[in-house]
Amino acid sequence: MVIALFYSEFFFHYKYRFDVIVEKMIENRSKHNYSLPLALLVTIFLTKIAESAEETGEALFLKNCAECHQRDGRGISNIYPSLAGNEVVVGSGVDVALVLIIGRGEMPSFSNAMSSTEMTKIINYVRNAFGNKGELISIDIIDSLKQ
Ligand code: HEC
Repeated sequence: MVIALFYSEFFFHYKYRFDVIVEKMIENRSKHNYSLPLALLVTIFLTKIAESAEETGEALFLKNCAECHQRDGRGISNIYPSLAGNEVVVGSGVDVALVLIIGRGEMPSFSNAMSSTEMTKIINYVRNAFGNKGELISIDIIDSLKQ
């Protein structure tokens, strides 16, 4: 019961910011015995990290690109280029990687917004979606271009 009370207090104050909650619990652990809720939260936290690490290229595309290039990759004519049958996309892989790393025109750079792994997944997705057929690229291409 006492544990449940502390537990809900933490949730109320920190609005489900699991990272902050865990940090506070570790800070106060000499005063109260938080081991049970702490173990629970760490589990939730790690599960969430694992989930995001497993995101597929398609999920990442829908989250980061579909807003402009549309879910079917065909864009909006004269505003957002279609990625279907696009030479930049299906070419060597370097061109599409550079667009994501540097950005282009109205399109922002994704260098700070995502990891090399995520970029590789998205690129390999767009190279083989919307009717495209492109060889898979490796993360080394992204890392070497980023430098
Ligand atoms: C805010 C809107 C927006 C988002 C989000 C966006 N793009 Fe773009 N993208 C554009 C625009 C606009 C262009 C055309 C830029 C130009 O040529 O001036 C473009 C160009 C491109 C090109 C080059 C196509 C060509 O024919 O030159 C590729 C490849 C591309 N985007 C892929 C992506 C991928 C993959 C994502 C997700 C990681 C993404 N874009 C996210 C707006 C966006």
